[in-house]
Amino acid sequence: MNNRLLRDSSRIAIYPGSFDPITNGHLDLIQRGSRLFDRLIVSILRNESKEPPLFSAEERIEMLREVAEPYPNVEVDSFDGLLVDHAANRAATAILRGIRAISDYEYELQMALMNRRLRPEIETVFMMSNEAYSFISSRMVKEVFSLGGNITGLAPPSVEARMRGRFSKIKQKGA
Ligand code: PNS
Repeated sequence: MNNRLLRDSSRIAIYPGSFDPITNGHLDLIQRGSRLFDRLIVSILRNESKEPPLFSAEERIEMLREVAEPYPNVEVDSFDGLLVDHAANRAATAILRGIRAISDYEYELQMALMNRRLRPEIETVFMMSNEAYSFISSRMVKEVFSLGGNITGLAPPSVEARMRGRFSKIKQKGA
C-alpha cells in the first residue's frame, strides 16, 4: 500500500476534556484509546466556562505531554469553540469519551447527540472506565488533595508533584 493510501485511511480520534488535572482514569483511556486508533489527539478545552481552572491550559498541555510520552501515536493540543469544528480541523473522524458510571450517561448522551447533529460524519465512541478508576474525577482529586488527603494512585506522580507545588503556593498567598 502506498503512503498516500495509508495516510488517507488512518483513523484519527480526538479525546477532549478539561483535564484539570489529568487523573489515572484519563490516562487509562489514553492508553487504551491509543491502541484503538492510528492517532489519538488529546484536546484540552481552553475557554472553560464552569470555574477558573487550577492549572492554565499551558500547564495542562505540559502535564499531558509528560504522561502521554510513552505512546508515540498520542499528541496533545488545545481548542476553543465547538469540539466538532476542532475535530474536523484535525481530520478526526471520532470523538473518544469515557463513561465511569450510569450518572455520566445522560450528559454524555446529550453531548454525543448534539455533536452528531452538528457534524454527523464525526462519530462519538465511548469506552467504559476501568473499574479501578471509575470513582475518580478531577474535581474530587482536587478536593481531596486540598483538604490534605492522599491522592497516590488517583493521578500520575508528576501531576501529584505539580499539585503539591500549586497548593503550597495558594496556601502561602492565603497566609
Ligand atoms: O472534561 P469535561 O468537562 O467532561 O469535557 C467536556 C468537553 C470539553 C468535552 C465539552 O465541554 C466540550 O466539548 N466543550 C466544547 C464546546 C462544544 O463543542 N459544545 C457543544 C457540544 S455539547
